[in-house]
Amino acid sequence: MMDQGNFLMNINSQEFDRTHLWHPYTSMTNPLPVYEVESAHGARLRLADGRELIDGMSSWWAAIHGYNHPVLNQAAEQQLQKMAHVMFGGITHEPAVTLARTLIELTPAPLDRIFLCDSGSVSVEVSIKMAMQYWQAKGVKDKTRMLTVRGGYHGDTFGAMAVCDPVSGMHSLFHAILPQHFFAPLISCGFYEPWNDTCLDPFRELLQKNHKKIAAVILEPVVQGAGGMRFYHPRFLTEARKLCDHYETLLILDEIATGFGRTGELFGCDHAGISPDIMCLGKALTGGYMTLAATLTTAKVAEVISSGDPGLLMHGPTFMGNPLACAVAQASLTLLTSSSWQKNVKTIETILKKELHSCRQHPAVADVRVLGAIGVVEMKNPVDVATIQQQCVDRGVWIRPFGKLLYIMPPYIISADDLHHLCSVITEVVTDIL
Ligand SMILES: Cc1ncc(COP(=O)(O)O)c(C=O)c1O
Repeated sequence: MMDQGNFLMNINSQEFDRTHLWHPYTSMTNPLPVYEVESAHGARLRLADGRELIDGMSSWWAAIHGYNHPVLNQAAEQQLQKMAHVMFGGITHEPAVTLARTLIELTPAPLDRIFLCDSGSVSVEVSIKMAMQYWQAKGVKDKTRMLTVRGGYHGDTFGAMAVCDPVSGMHSLFHAILPQHFFAPLISCGFYEPWNDTCLDPFRELLQKNHKKIAAVILEPVVQGAGGMRFYHPRFLTEARKLCDHYETLLILDEIATGFGRTGELFGCDHAGISPDIMCLGKALTGGYMTLAATLTTAKVAEVISSGDPGLLMHGPTFMGNPLACAVAQASLTLLTSSSWQKNVKTIETILKKELHSCRQHPAVADVRVLGAIGVVEMKNPVDVATIQQQCVDRGVWIRPFGKLLYIMPPYIISADDLHHLCSVITEVVTDIL
């Protein structure tokens, strides 16, 4: 009889993966299919069986420059010659300092105090801690809760999950352990609709009634991503900023998905011309090379936290400020700001608007919407992810639908031909759903 070790060595990698590796949001006993990627270049993923797929996902918003970029490769290789990692406790290094300088330059003033952390979810945890510690340090002990809107997504850790949409974010499953926050209804005024002041009413009322308990408002600016791919009116942000100031509540903007050009502006909040008290960045920060996130705040917030008890921010992950990730992030930001990203994103937007438009005619389609380099086809009913993925892969395209949504956010460097193909495959697949 073969022992367990030998058995595991002998099963092929697909079978091993299916039986031993947990993938995101899928069952361990009846998992969704996975496709083995052997390499990736530009806007293409190459499967182990030799097929090439046009990437419609940028690996969940992250790979904005495409894959295997020579500039980012070089940054990683050069940094590797010096050190891959060193602890950030009691030590600093040039990659972290340079990246921090760049982030201060790029983000709206007065954000200029930076906490580097591991992932988007962790940066949201840190932002919530900052907001709570801010009020504790000021001696305002009751301001411990968050206010947000329905339809949001901020990550999978407990603090982040507690501010995700309470229904699609599965609050019921973790109810016993999740902190309770305030949720205003979905923002009813769309990005392209004329502004309607009544859209603010429920949010304003919640804040007015509960501001003494609310440490911060947390929002994804302009685009709500994994909670439903909704685009809302920038004026909501402008008004939310004013209300936060009026009711003495901090404003946290989660720019993890929207940051670095995806919506057509460098940051989602640039559509509204406002700046938050705390900003979360992640995903495209390293051009999708490795995990790194940042929580930025103002001198005012940082000084209050540092003046209170215990006089420090209570967070400090092992891989904080990882030099390899910082070096690649710096290279990615230099690449972005020296490229014509705005023009590229605009071109993608124009093509998506033109080519996804015809999906609207199909009776199974509820809505088609495009903003920046994000294209969404919302169906009336949930789609079968495995079937749609198979149909797309067979036609040379990589997407990952969820719920009722087929959506794409390709790398900014995608060619017009590849984008046309991506759109025509989505249109075909949508037609097949009928
Ligand atoms: C807006 C937003 N916030 C937070 C997160 C969590 O980031 P991460 O998956 O890196 O933990 C995501 C991820 O999709 C996101 O879209």
